Amino acid sequence: MTIKDYVVMEKAKLKTLVESMPVKPHLFIIQVNDDEASTTYVNGKLRDCAEVGVRADLMKLPITISQADLIKEIDKLNKNPDVHGLIVQMPLPKQIDEEAIKFAVNPLKDVDGFHPFSKMTACTPKGIVDYLTFEGITFQGKNAVVIGRSNIVGKPLAKLLTSKNANVTILHSKTKPEDMNFYLEHADIVCIAIGHKGFLTGEHLKKTAVVVDVGINRFEGKLYGDAEPNLNVALQTPVPGGVGLLTRLTLIKNLIEAYQHGI
Ligand code: GUN
Repeated sequence: MTIKDYVVMEKAKLKTLVESMPVKPHLFIIQVNDDEASTTYVNGKLRDCAEVGVRADLMKLPITISQADLIKEIDKLNKNPDVHGLIVQMPLPKQIDEEAIKFAVNPLKDVDGFHPFSKMTACTPKGIVDYLTFEGITFQGKNAVVIGRSNIVGKPLAKLLTSKNANVTILHSKTKPEDMNFYLEHADIVCIAIGHKGFLTGEHLKKTAVVVDVGINRFEGKLYGDAEPNLNVALQTPVPGGVGLLTRLTLIKNLIEAYQHGI
């Protein structure tokens, strides 16, 4: 099933679940940037929430805000029992330490899954694993290669695949090409999140490989993944209309989980 159809199906299930809830789960998004791409993501999240019937609010703060003032705003929402999920959209302005902000969000409300004590799993990794599982792909004993080591995707994805008993290798921008090719030749699952349009060409991949493309690269007004499209493999997630949709779906699943845990 395409990711688009899978997400439509999953959202319909969530909508039915939310309809049965007397009080609706409530997501709060803080945005501290004027970034066009970020605004597109935030609008997508707000649209998804409306579709599923959960509440969502956006607070835009000035990019000149100090770290201490941002943490004060987070604290108010941490303590507000009317808010079940809280996310601070990345990136943040230079004067603010991203790690300090991740730590400032109440782990019970951390629906991004960024806090080390978060009750929730990071959205992009969980979205990917849930979709692949739906597609009948198993992880135990498989060679999984994760290209990219970001805190949002590469590292948590490697951790989640490890917990599913895959043999996980993390590669990155400093990996030597001959080593990259060696690992790709043996890979059953390749997840790429390196931010480099068309980096993965497929010539070293097995025909039975699964390719998950997390890249979002803007070029001449269009979106491209980190892999060349239409590789000769068993399954490849498209860009656009791929992992981004899975991330947003998982955010709502995490919100419902946070709501059900209670605060
Ligand atoms: N910026 C890019 N992706 C994400 C995400 O999943 N969550 C947040 N908070 N910021 C992001």
